[in-house]
Amino acid sequence: MKDILQELETRRADARMGGGQNRIDAQHARGKLTARERVELLLDEGSFEEYDMFVTHRCTDFGMEKNRPAGDGVVTGWGTINGRMVYVFSQDFTVLGGSVSATHAMKICKIMDMAMQNGAPVIGINDSGGARIQEGVDSLAGYGEVFQRNIMASGVVPQISMIMGPCAGGAVYSPAMTDFIFMVKDSSYMFVTGPDVVKTVTNEHVTAEELGGAVTHTRKSSVADGAFENDVEALAEVRRLVDFLPLNNRQPSPTRPFFDDVDRLEESLDTLVPENANTPYDMKELIHKIADEADFYEIQEEFAKNMITGFIRLEGQTVGVVANQPMVLAGVLDIDSARKAARFVRFCDCFGIPLLTFVDVPGFLPGTSQEYNGVIKHGAKLLFAYGEATVPKVTVITRKSYGGAYVVMASKHLRADVNYAWPTAEIAVMGAKGATEIIHRADLGDAGKIAAHAAQYEDRFANPFVAAERGFIDEVIQPRSTRKRVARAFAALRSKKQEMPWKKHDNIPL
Ligand code: HXC
Repeated sequence: MKDILQELETRRADARMGGGQNRIDAQHARGKLTARERVELLLDEGSFEEYDMFVTHRCTDFGMEKNRPAGDGVVTGWGTINGRMVYVFSQDFTVLGGSVSATHAMKICKIMDMAMQNGAPVIGINDSGGARIQEGVDSLAGYGEVFQRNIMASGVVPQISMIMGPCAGGAVYSPAMTDFIFMVKDSSYMFVTGPDVVKTVTNEHVTAEELGGAVTHTRKSSVADGAFENDVEALAEVRRLVDFLPLNNRQPSPTRPFFDDVDRLEESLDTLVPENANTPYDMKELIHKIADEADFYEIQEEFAKNMITGFIRLEGQTVGVVANQPMVLAGVLDIDSARKAARFVRFCDCFGIPLLTFVDVPGFLPGTSQEYNGVIKHGAKLLFAYGEATVPKVTVITRKSYGGAYVVMASKHLRADVNYAWPTAEIAVMGAKGATEIIHRADLGDAGKIAAHAAQYEDRFANPFVAAERGFIDEVIQPRSTRKRVARAFAALRSKKQEMPWKKHDNIPL
């Protein structure tokens, strides 16, 4: 009996060593943790339950029968993050470069199936050379099985991808179908074709970092939702994110203890909006000032900075925030900001997370670049996303709300539940100058007359009261009381139920 127990421990110890000490050292030398170290940091101490530690591949080509490491290059199982269950897979680059064989994929599929069955998020840690070249189509089939599960799990359990090493070729499409992608600066990259192929095909010279590093994907492509300095920071931040999310689409987000008075008045907000309507101010100040303990988890911080998206808590409960940022491009709506916000709104709606929208938007960005690249279609994504969302929706207009952007930004007409405006709100079809030039075209007159017409237009519309008279704004509120008013609105909406007409699925403009 003792020998049998000893045999188990020996086998376990062997599996835990992955590709051996030299490769572990090489991994460390690159500033990367090993697959197991990452799992340990991600999960609560001692909570990891591993599966399939002894799975090996079945390939007999290219001498592979002599190289059958236990675990086959991926560590899988479940554990807890602050006591709540998550499933995790962590690719082990020290074992055959973390490459994906049929059995490696099978291990990932197993935990994805369990996550779906038991209603818990899946966190994938990607660090892999891609399809196991020796296995050919068996490996591709394995990827296909993972992809299909990503699709089935979308909107059922949260899926989070950590890119902590190479992730190239078709392999990128599994993370691409998950809800959030986070990368590590200087040690991770994602691309469909690498720098060598790019050079051959397009004659472009580009490094892996430039082509698909964390900076590229958080600032240019928006493929990634965040980038961190190193593995430790990335894993700690994902733990923080998971705390905001429900375990699945049928459970509410967790309620965290809060020590912040819900009736807290923020007098500084009364002067947040500058006197000059063209002077910017920082919308993040408002978000921080109304959130419980000023805690804000921003998503896609580096991309389309004219739009802010992220999570806060009010009375301990998760709320998704979407806000125009007047500091960048005057908070205008454009292709990138509309896409960014639309995806966020849809995530929140999938998982029952209420939406809080702060509006200060001068309209859509004009220009050939926007039109040629399809601002009509991309702007429609945000309109569509807000209109189909059935979660509680509360909107606060702080300043400008012009034209189509007024309707798009969670207006009453898109089934927002509670629409507030600050006294500084201006709600109109367009700015006073543009309006004057059109409605008084026949009789524009001199500068004095134009200014008089513009002033007349401003008097009529540069306020929230016309909209309030029609009930499109439920109440004009004091800026200082925003936290209290918004929190009370969400409290009143806790049992909201809204049905959609039967359909197979919608046809959101893509
Ligand atoms: C089998 C692989 C492998 C792979 C790496 N290894 N990638 N084995 N299949 N895809 C092995 C290496 O042979 C090596 O083994 C060990 O892992 C470490 O790799 P190194 O090359 O020494 O590491 P490094 O210098 O850091 O380079 C990492 C790398 C490189 C850039 C990822 O290994 C590489 O280019 N690999 C091939 C990438 C690739 O073309 N993959 C297929 C993509 S197509 P030894 O024993 O020598 O140390 C794809 C399609 C998916 O993935 C489609 C889904 C539908």
